[in-house]
Amino acid sequence: MKVLGIETSCDETAASVIADGTIRSNVIASQAVHETFGGVVPELASRAHHKTIWQTVSQALDEASVTADDVDAIAVTRGPGLMGSLLVGLSFAKGLSISFDKPLIGVNHIDAHMYANFIEHEEVYPFVALIVSGGHTRLVYSDKLFSHKLLGDTRDDAAGEAFDKIGKILGLPYPAGPEVDKRSKNGNPDFHDFPRSMIKKGLDFSFSGLKTSVLYYAQEMGEEFVQKNLDDICASVSAAITDVLTAKLRRAVQQTGVKNVMLAGGVSANSMLRSKMEDLSKKMNLHLMIPSIQYCTDNAAMIAKTGQLKAREGLFDSLEIKPFARLDFLKESS
Ligand code: KG4
Ligand code: ZN
Repeated sequence: MKVLGIETSCDETAASVIADGTIRSNVIASQAVHETFGGVVPELASRAHHKTIWQTVSQALDEASVTADDVDAIAVTRGPGLMGSLLVGLSFAKGLSISFDKPLIGVNHIDAHMYANFIEHEEVYPFVALIVSGGHTRLVYSDKLFSHKLLGDTRDDAAGEAFDKIGKILGLPYPAGPEVDKRSKNGNPDFHDFPRSMIKKGLDFSFSGLKTSVLYYAQEMGEEFVQKNLDDICASVSAAITDVLTAKLRRAVQQTGVKNVMLAGGVSANSMLRSKMEDLSKKMNLHLMIPSIQYCTDNAAMIAKTGQLKAREGLFDSLEIKPFARLDFLKESS
């Protein structure tokens, strides 16, 4: 079974081929155009996808040594994401599907972040997933493929959004998450005690208080102090975010009794989070799944993998499927 995966939900144009469960190519064209604006500009993102999608898909096929005619299905992200960006990928996938007479599979981007774990780990159920991306922070219980129950959600900002917005306050370029992570490695996580909102109870999250706290702290201490102590401040911010994420996952495990846990989404690339999750797993004797770095942030290998799982279950789509900017994966998984 060979599946071509296409991902264009935000600012990465990506294509990948999976063959018999092995990722044969994983091409990502990142859009540098947004850096100067400090965030993704939707119209520019659609244009950049439009410009690069042909070349990205061709490269993914070439690197996998296959042609579009050789694949068994074409999987593409349907949502959630930016409407214009999703439309470019979905229209392109439909064009390929018609031209080469291949079945089409619409994939939920958030499902795909979770199933990225099954590229390198055996498929196991039930599991508890901590989904931490730019737009989502959720705890989910899953007892079988495409069957999820929401355990906890963010009440305001997502974890990735918190990293990005706090990084912006500290003068770091967009997206700030990876840069905060890099600087944290050289800093002292106990330098400043930032708030750990809602850490003591429940499975919901809140990160907007932390953002405000960093803003007030930066204003009070001044630009020179912040820049001089940037590594320590980044480490203290990372500690606050990852302490909350780890505490909530621990609580979800205690409440459900589930031993299989996974990290999913861009923030699962965060080194402090990965290491705290590994420590927690050792202490609680958990089976921990974390994607390797190239499958954490947006990529098409996770779309190809989810496409392969859907094809296995006979879950194909008609050419009439439409993109959804807000796709609730609890309802729209299949
Ligand atoms: O999953 P993703 O690539 O895109 C969405 O679906 O949102 O996640 C992107 C988010 C961004 O907020 C980015 O700053 C964050 O993941 N991120 C990180 C790291 N790498 C990416 N945050 C903290 N540490 C990292 N190493
Ligand atoms: Zn994503």
